[in-house]
Amino acid sequence: MSAVTRASNDPLVHQWMPFTANRQFLEQPRLIARAEGVYYYNTRGEKLLDGSSGLYCIPLGHGRREIREAVAKQMEELDYAPPFQYGVPTAFRLAAEVAQLTPSGLNRVFFACSGSEAVDTALKMALQYHRARGEGSRQRFIGRERGYHGVNFGGWSVGGMVANRKSFGLGLPGVAHLRHTHIPENRFQMGEGAHGAELADDLERFVNLHGADTIAACIVEPVAGSTGILVPPKGYLKRLREICDRHGILLIFDEVITGFGRTGEPFAAQTFGVTPDIMTMAKALTNGSIPMAAVAVKDEIQQTILDAAPADTVEFYHGYTYSAHPAACAAGLATLKIYREEGTFERVKQLAPDFLDQIAGFKGLPDVVDTRGFGLLGAVELAPKGKPGERGFKILCRAFERGLVMRAAGDSLVLAPPFAATPEQISEMIDIIRELIREG
Ligand SMILES: Cc1ncc(COP(=O)(O)O)c(C=O)c1O
Repeated sequence: MSAVTRASNDPLVHQWMPFTANRQFLEQPRLIARAEGVYYYNTRGEKLLDGSSGLYCIPLGHGRREIREAVAKQMEELDYAPPFQYGVPTAFRLAAEVAQLTPSGLNRVFFACSGSEAVDTALKMALQYHRARGEGSRQRFIGRERGYHGVNFGGWSVGGMVANRKSFGLGLPGVAHLRHTHIPENRFQMGEGAHGAELADDLERFVNLHGADTIAACIVEPVAGSTGILVPPKGYLKRLREICDRHGILLIFDEVITGFGRTGEPFAAQTFGVTPDIMTMAKALTNGSIPMAAVAVKDEIQQTILDAAPADTVEFYHGYTYSAHPAACAAGLATLKIYREEGTFERVKQLAPDFLDQIAGFKGLPDVVDTRGFGLLGAVELAPKGKPGERGFKILCRAFERGLVMRAAGDSLVLAPPFAATPEQISEMIDIIRELIREG
């Protein structure tokens, strides 16, 4: 335990920070006071590059005036309306616009407030869909090792991050996990790895073990983000799709990080040419400005659930006080307008090749054991020094002193630059990381 000697009335002691080494933070606070474009400013007014687009949520950079003004205008007109049994026009417009971006067939959109909520919503939709079709025995979920699907009970149960699970007991019953796809054969391969498509066959093994008629859905991130950018092996996602189709299992893509352009197309589903049945999204939906998430489902899934309920009754007993909050809808509409008008996702295609080359260029530096990436997601993995993750965390802390905000997933250093970054700014991020790796 570190020796923290802050006064009990110091404001820093009162906030219990999420996913943070709270005691270390009290000794070495990393405070961010302001942001503009691709820069943060600390409390001394010094600039820091945003190397992780906030938490993968600010592709346009910080402080876009159009979003701010749209939210302010909405708040003046309508600050809140109950989303149960009432609706606000902006929510319907936003749902229609999201449906324009999702793969064809996924046109029904349910709003939530965070990625975690979107995931739990998606899991519940899958359960109710099967029940509505008379296949209520389908109650198991299949997740994947090293997957991250948020922190609510459904999400962490299907997730495969050990630290997020081990303190919280049993979680949802009936969950099994596919093996992860981070295999040694694909080390230092940027883009999709050549090996490992057959790992998808784990799903077939669960079918053999438990019976397809007990499995509701399989949920994966197309590219696993939070465990350090694990790109799917070539053909892996297609194979999962085929197995799901063969056995009536719904395929859920969690696109909370990959959604809205990160892989160069609106969604990774389009990039990899595989259409899920249900898709979760959040983060970049509002450019991170107001909490909001969504679940897009195939029309047939929603229709089945609606048709199974008696007339004039609630069909899906689920929703949040802040589902489709007017301010979030306004932020979402303003954000999608910018994406459309500025061709934001195209910019990823322009920036990604050079970005990924620079990530690949870390190979050969001391203790670098892997480089990987796709689109504007890149990771360099270092051999552990001390406890696993200790080295990555130390570099994250030192990067802050050098003017870079980044992510560390264990001992993998992760960059996810805003799409608004210039090639020079991206190179600057890379240079800081290179220096920190060289220093050991
Ligand atoms: C793939 C994925 N799903 C779900 C979540 C949870 O989102 P939130 O933190 O908004 O609850 C995240 C967060 O990073 C994520 O990356």
